[in-house]
Amino acid sequence: MPDQTPPAAPTAAALPATVRHIVLRRRPVGVPTPDCFALVETPMPVLDDGQMLVRMRVGSVDPAIRGFLDDRPSYLPPVAIDAPVTGMSLGEVVASRHADWPVGTLVRVLGTWSDHYVITPDALGLERVTPQPGVPLRAYMGALGPVGLTAWVGLVAVGQARPGDTVLVSAAAGATGSTVVQLARAMGCRVVGLAGGADKAALVQRLGADAAIDHRVAPDALATALDAAAPQGIDVYFDNVGGPLLDLVLPRMREGGRIALCGMIAQYNDADHPHGVTQLWQLVVKRLTLRGFLTYDHADRLAEAQAMLDDLHGRGQLVPLENVHRGFESLPGAFIALMQGQTTGKTLVEI
Ligand SMILES: NC(=O)c1ccc[n+]([C@@H]2O[C@H](COP(=O)([O-])OP(=O)(O)OC[C@H]3O[C@@H](n4cnc5c(N)ncnc54)[C@H](OP(=O)(O)O)[C@@H]3O)[C@@H](O)[C@H]2O)c1
Repeated sequence: MPDQTPPAAPTAAALPATVRHIVLRRRPVGVPTPDCFALVETPMPVLDDGQMLVRMRVGSVDPAIRGFLDDRPSYLPPVAIDAPVTGMSLGEVVASRHADWPVGTLVRVLGTWSDHYVITPDALGLERVTPQPGVPLRAYMGALGPVGLTAWVGLVAVGQARPGDTVLVSAAAGATGSTVVQLARAMGCRVVGLAGGADKAALVQRLGADAAIDHRVAPDALATALDAAAPQGIDVYFDNVGGPLLDLVLPRMREGGRIALCGMIAQYNDADHPHGVTQLWQLVVKRLTLRGFLTYDHADRLAEAQAMLDDLHGRGQLVPLENVHRGFESLPGAFIALMQGQTTGKTLVEI
């Protein structure tokens, strides 16, 4: 008869002697390269009262990290040279000196690219994660986690999308974009996606978009394709990229339209030379709202968002799109691929 005994909860005795970190060796110029990062080891820390030790299980690879690698102010401080890279991850408490956070608790938190890290309950973004049976843990770092919440906040809370609206999404084959396409479709919107290349555009169409446009074509062809895909104009633009696409879209917004500005990845690799948007007068002409947002500013709406994501996932109307790398040391390579525009869906590292 097979052994039915549950595996013993990990204890400090089972911990490795050292912690591995991915540190920033030098600041990237343009797209990051492998020599910007290094793998270093430090002794396993000893916990103080009130602290927990978390073992990273799923590392999140995000474009926002590119901004933290530059030495300029943002909504988080820059990563110091030779310090571990800042990043979100999903992990498991493997040692604890806090009664409310026992060993075995699964958490999502903004930490560092370290295979183990020490946190306290006030750690930025700390949340408990309770996976549903049969759903892989990594989904809670993607479409059923921060990615899905970002898509929902931008589309519903900021973009105020309604059934019948025409919703345009940039980087539509990416993590956030692919989730927005599926959410908007489920809400009864007409969905148009912008993606780089014919293969990504075909993928966006398979996700349920009514139209998908390759944005890496000549400007005239792109404008013609957008006019054909949204002949009545655009009610909601979920913008992940900024740059020249924003200029292209502004005159094509409908009166009273909403632009949910999620990110500006078009300028992350070259933040010293941002694209100068020339069409802002359209905000007046069309009485548009352009609003930037950070997902976790909308904490009061996240339970509602999570319920909708879980519900749609349960009905098969939200299928997480992911590209999954394996092993802690693959974090820099996964990040470089993301910043080169090579990826589709959420970029994750399973450890
Ligand atoms: N506000 C928030 O709280 C929040 C939270 C999470 C993410 N974000 C932002 O959301 C955006 C998407 O993040 P993600 O994690 O979902 O990444 P992602 O879409 O999975 O990956 C990035 C994609 O951006 C596209 N891209 C890169 N450079 C571009 C350019 N110059 N012009 C047009 N498209 C370009 C590429 O797709 P193509 O090949 O299709 O061009 C690339 O694959 C980022 O700007 C990120 O900072 C914001």
